[in-house]
Amino acid sequence: MTKIQTMWTDDLSVGNTTIDNEHKQLFALINEFYRGIKDESPRERLEELILGLVNYTKSHFSNEEKHMLQMAYPQLKEHQEAHQFFIEKTQNYYERLHAGKLILSIEVTNFLKDWLVKHIKGTDQQYAAFERNLKA
Ligand SMILES: [Fe+2]
Ligand SMILES: [Fe+2]
Repeated sequence: MTKIQTMWTDDLSVGNTTIDNEHKQLFALINEFYRGIKDESPRERLEELILGLVNYTKSHFSNEEKHMLQMAYPQLKEHQEAHQFFIEKTQNYYERLHAGKLILSIEVTNFLKDWLVKHIKGTDQQYAAFERNLKA
């Protein structure tokens, strides 16, 4: 089975402690969610976990978007669209789960984890690079 444990590592840093801490918290929430699935927690608990993830992600994205706005980041719009995609996807998981139409699986967790890692490593790193250039 794929190893799912997600760790924040230094190469994921965007050079901003607040945002780095939010990314660490996102990983913590995903790991907790994964444990919930693995332990076969009741559906109510899994709903609670995924809703927690949806809400935390929303607040993180909104903080990050404010940060990008402050530095007049030229790719803000594309970045916002990527955030929106993830929110809709995650919210859809929650709604389907709530309606009893989704059996949560490792694949769902893998999607969440892979998307986030890729986003933080790729898309988030782009504004970090832009910001470094501003300061240089
Ligand atoms: Fe982020
Ligand atoms: Fe982002």
